Amino acid sequence: MRKLLACLFVLVAFMFSCESMEQEASYTIGFAQCTGGDAWRQAMHDEMRREISFYPELDLIIKDANNNTSLQAEHIRQFIRQGVDLLIVSPNEAEPITPLVEEALEKGIPVIIVDRRTASSFYTAYVGADNYEIGKLAGNYVGELLGGQGKVLEIWGLKGSSPAQDRHRGFVEALQGFKDIRVVAEVRGEWEKEIAKSRFPDVYQQVGEVDLVFAHNDVMALGVYEYLKSIGQEKKFKFIGVDGLSGPSGGLQFVTEGILDATFLYPTGGEEIIRLASKILHKEPYDKENILNSTVIDSRNVHIMKQQTDKILTQQKSIERQQEKIAEQIEIYQSQRVLLYILLGGMVVIIILGALAGLALREKQEMNRVLVTKNREIIKQRDEIEKMARKADKATEAKFKFFTNISHEFRTPLTLILGPVDDILRSNISTDLKKDMQLIKNNANRLLHLVTQLMDFRKIENKKMKLQTAERDIVAFVHTIASSFKRLAQKRRIHFAVESKPEKVKVYFDADKLDKVLFNLLSNAFKFTDDGGVISVKITISDTCDRVILMVEDNGRGMSAEHVKHAFDRFYTGDVYNNLSTGLGLSLSKEFISLHKGEIAVVSERWKGTRFVITLPLGKEHLQAEEILLQEQEEEMVALASLPYAQEIEVEAAEGVEAAAQKQYTILLIEDNEELRGFLKQRLQKEFTVVEAPDGLLGLSLAFDVVPDLIISDIMLPNKGGLEVTATLKKDLRTAHVPVILLTAKDSIEQKIEGIQSGADLYVTKPFNYQYLYERVKSLIQSRERLKDQYSSEISVDASLAAPKQLDKKFINAFTAVVQKNLANPQLSANDIAESLGMSRVQLYRKAKSILGYSINDYVVKARLKKAKHLLLNSDHTITEIATEVGFSSPAYFSTAFKNHFGVSPSDFKASHTVKE
Ligand code: FRU
Repeated sequence: MRKLLACLFVLVAFMFSCESMEQEASYTIGFAQCTGGDAWRQAMHDEMRREISFYPELDLIIKDANNNTSLQAEHIRQFIRQGVDLLIVSPNEAEPITPLVEEALEKGIPVIIVDRRTASSFYTAYVGADNYEIGKLAGNYVGELLGGQGKVLEIWGLKGSSPAQDRHRGFVEALQGFKDIRVVAEVRGEWEKEIAKSRFPDVYQQVGEVDLVFAHNDVMALGVYEYLKSIGQEKKFKFIGVDGLSGPSGGLQFVTEGILDATFLYPTGGEEIIRLASKILHKEPYDKENILNSTVIDSRNVHIMKQQTDKILTQQKSIERQQEKIAEQIEIYQSQRVLLYILLGGMVVIIILGALAGLALREKQEMNRVLVTKNREIIKQRDEIEKMARKADKATEAKFKFFTNISHEFRTPLTLILGPVDDILRSNISTDLKKDMQLIKNNANRLLHLVTQLMDFRKIENKKMKLQTAERDIVAFVHTIASSFKRLAQKRRIHFAVESKPEKVKVYFDADKLDKVLFNLLSNAFKFTDDGGVISVKITISDTCDRVILMVEDNGRGMSAEHVKHAFDRFYTGDVYNNLSTGLGLSLSKEFISLHKGEIAVVSERWKGTRFVITLPLGKEHLQAEEILLQEQEEEMVALASLPYAQEIEVEAAEGVEAAAQKQYTILLIEDNEELRGFLKQRLQKEFTVVEAPDGLLGLSLAFDVVPDLIISDIMLPNKGGLEVTATLKKDLRTAHVPVILLTAKDSIEQKIEGIQSGADLYVTKPFNYQYLYERVKSLIQSRERLKDQYSSEISVDASLAAPKQLDKKFINAFTAVVQKNLANPQLSANDIAESLGMSRVQLYRKAKSILGYSINDYVVKARLKKAKHLLLNSDHTITEIATEVGFSSPAYFSTAFKNHFGVSPSDFKASHTVKE
């Protein structure tokens, strides 16, 4: 739309510009007029204007010099500067104006001289009458009028102007034919009536009476006439003038009135001047000299002349009126043309808009068509989706049904497992078997618990879950459930307490369901709280006194914000290591609390702790009649109730942690699954000292502290994965020698390769056979032992022998270098060596023992003796000197040690060898 308006604007502007272009004159004509104040000049101007209206391309500018020659000169200069296309000059005086005319010509401006001439013939063209001829005509006329005798007084025009000079010359020449006619005086009238009138009296007084006054123009003759009339002497003179202008104050009128005896027509030539200018500007042929005719006007022809000129005047007036009308018409035409253009422009816009609207309509129709098709497609797709959704619903329903049925089927075998296990547990069996049985029992119970949860879900989904409440003391109820966790709390040094503001709070609740909820919350709290932590259950009444609030709080691991957001979502388990059970428990808890018209919420922060808040309404108004049990039903329920989950909290039998020192080898077990860890520990600790870690980070720090003989680590571990742990251990001088067995459920070849690349010695896939693992553990330890023997034998001969493992070799080299360097120092201790190697004393001790097979001290003594042996054989040093050199504080102690080790005293050793040599 905006674009269209812009187009319209441009169109209209264009039309207006065409308009103005049409009106604009192509040629500018400058007219330097000597004066514009008299009727003759005004008649000339009127004619010019009338004529120029037929030449729309011409523009006329008239500058009036008011009889001032220098002003006229300035006007001409201005026109030249302005660059007019043509110059018209009527020189006030011939001489001073001539050079300016020539200058204009030099600048390429054509110049038309009118009426008065310059002093040269350098001009483009001339228009005017022949003043010499007029003078002559006048002279001859006067000669005849005076009958060849008389006195004449001549009134001059401006002496410097060409008409005055020419008229005088012609007049005088003609009078030479009349011997008795004399020009007795002259008056300088300067072409002006008033000047002639004022100067005449003086001359008149001097010359006295004359017969005739010849004035160079009619108005000066009139001036003299008026003066003579004022003194009553006008009848004595004859008056002759020049111009013969028509109109009320022209020469024709004066002749008619008898003021003048005669006048000589001097045409103004306005029309001719314009026509000539047009020819010159349009480069048409023209005449240089355009002489206008003159004639005498006196009483004989004045009437005819007047009639003619009056007629001409009337016609001119009518022409002027017509021109005015034409101008008006042109104006109307132009404004109508503009209107027409606007209308045309408007029409064009309307047509364009119409076309655009048509296009838009077509587009819209097309879009509608597309939309209708799309809509149909969408409806079709929606129908299909609905169909698929129905199918999926059916399939899900069938799956759930199957799942529920299977779950249900699990219950019987699980019960059948649990029964005999209980029996066996009660019987007199060994501690090991008891532990196994307990493990079976715990896991069977867990399965049972999961199956029950699944079935509860189905009931809730099918709206078959019914609330069966009775009014009970909820404080006592919470205490009962909490008591199941007491032993576990004790064992793990967790501060666990139940606090209640009122000692008793009667609430209508479904014991079975609330038991499940609280049990679930407490299980989670214990699961995610570290040993030595704090867990509490607080029971309070709301400020509004209409709700009981149960708060289960711990200072354990807490949950991430994301986990908190989804805590009650069904099947949401968060990331692997932070899940709260199976993800079923909390969702189910929420459903159970909702059945009670209560609420459950969680506030938790990572590594700070978790708080679950349950609010239950007091009273029974919110419950349906069928949701409240009758007295006898309740008793029956209580009898049946066995707090199903409570049995799950079986605290493992006290672990018989045997002193590490009693067993030869130490195994570090890094496994996050508590049960698997317990299972392996229980078996391995029969033969090895077992150190445990539940995650990678702890495992790594224990490995550095303890430097075990073997490490068994899971791959999937919290904090640091098994592969990373292995790689770190194998890169560290302190633990590089320790064999690592990686356990994982992932049985892919890539995993195995990765495992081996990390430096692991063995890779065992779950599920594994314990016996297999045990055999592998044993064989790895044995092969380590063999290596150790090899190192120790190697080191006793030469410390620089190659060791199979690069890092072990590095250790041996560094270790022997430190010892050799400090052999002379009797105070050299394990501490000094450890410090030089950047290890702790215990680490050095374990490392040296595992690689070399004997203690640091033993090694140092052996090294001292070995060097002493060398010195005894290869030097002249005395035994006392050698004892000092190899760091024995006294020669006696050196001799004893040497004899103990080599079976011979140093002196005997030296003597026997010297003799041999
Ligand atoms: C008008 C006029 C005429 C005369 C002419 C001479 O200004 O004085 O009367 O004939 O000029 O140039």
